[in-house]
Amino acid sequence: MDLKKKIAVFASGTGTNAERIFEHFKEHPQIEVALLFSNNASAGVLNIAKHYKIPTVVFNRSEFYDSNAILNRLVREEIEWIVLAGFMWLVPESLVNAFPNKIINIHPALLPKFGGKGMYGMHVHEAVKAANETISGISIHFVNQQYDEGSIIAQYSCQIEHSDSAAEIAKKVQRLEHENYPKVIEELVLNQV
Ligand code: GRF
Repeated sequence: MDLKKKIAVFASGTGTNAERIFEHFKEHPQIEVALLFSNNASAGVLNIAKHYKIPTVVFNRSEFYDSNAILNRLVREEIEWIVLAGFMWLVPESLVNAFPNKIINIHPALLPKFGGKGMYGMHVHEAVKAANETISGISIHFVNQQYDEGSIIAQYSCQIEHSDSAAEIAKKVQRLEHENYPKVIEELVLNQV
């Protein structure tokens, strides 16, 4: 009998965070990444999932927002946790309600600053730079019906030098993401019922 707790990862893009998550859990005795969902058929993350032999599901907007296809699949596969790793679409209410405090996201800044609609990718780091911030970092949070507004689970910060470009800020923040996201997921899944 398979008693591992099952995670589904949702990602839309390159998938460097998803890759760290797959690697972290690949031989984990209690947790398994069981599925990778993407809304983008050409996302790099799909190849990474294939490399780790994780089944993939590609879906379109109407399957996500106007049907129960995704929810049914999650239930059928006995998924307990949903991890967003660079997933660009707002999660519909039906999914949020079906997985209360079981959907988590990572944001590349210290929320509540630099969050919300349009605050993704380099837009975030450019805004941090323009605001002359001396620290930035990452926020791992539960997902609710608003972009980046669910309660915060963990934050990690890094120093920003005045001379850092937005790309340099992005690199520092990405390092924090890769180091911490898999560990925080593991802790949550193991300790929260
Ligand atoms: C990360 O910066 C994450 O914080 C944000 O989307 C980005 C995904 O990058 N939500 P990658 O596809 O994991 O490289």
